[in-house]
Amino acid sequence: MVIDILTLFPNMFKSIFEESIIKRAKDLQKVTINIHNFRDYSLDKHKKVDDTPYGGGAGMVLSIQPIYDCVESLRKDYSKVILLTPSGIPYKQKQAYQLANEKHLIIICGHYEGFDERIRQIVDLEISIGDYVLTGGEIPAMVIVDSIVRLIPGVIKEQSHLEESFNKDYLLDYPTYTKPEEFKGMSVPEVLLSGNHQKIEEYRQKESLRKTKEIRPDLLEK
Ligand code: ADE
Repeated sequence: MVIDILTLFPNMFKSIFEESIIKRAKDLQKVTINIHNFRDYSLDKHKKVDDTPYGGGAGMVLSIQPIYDCVESLRKDYSKVILLTPSGIPYKQKQAYQLANEKHLIIICGHYEGFDERIRQIVDLEISIGDYVLTGGEIPAMVIVDSIVRLIPGVIKEQSHLEESFNKDYLLDYPTYTKPEEFKGMSVPEVLLSGNHQKIEEYRQKESLRKTKEIRPDLLEK
């Protein structure tokens, strides 16, 4: 998979893609991630990328030209172009699975007060990572890339993500423990030490359901 990210702040991505699972995926050549500063595509003599809004109002609006030219220089007929915006479709694990099957993603990080509405005409998908407003699309881009890259076959053990939250009937993950058996009066549930695999499985299912009821009852309604 190739992921092209369009941003005005390329330095923000420097360390995040050089650590842990994403680095591993790059080293294994499962993914290539390119960061593009779309300011480089501005035809303005001062490399301006934004302007005041037509009709008046506060703040600056990202212009279409630099983003359009940058996207079109990268686009293949199989590319999926994503715009990150708080008014996009809420991002869910199901979408991460779908995106993990794509060959080429172009991700546009919005900034400032907003972007020229016409940018929406050159994208396939608008995504929001949650109902809050961040200063730009860079952190959402990191969230999305991280969630997708770990799902590319061969990056992590498939069993790991089949067992985690949101994959089993919209239930949260069951609790896990490791050594020691006892720590400052807090102990590991007996059943996990029993070696009885059927009982352990039952316990995990029950705990998954209990946690979901307590923390995310909305998931059970699905
Ligand atoms: N840009 C600013 N806030 C955002 C959000 N919540 N999701 C995606 N992009 C954003």
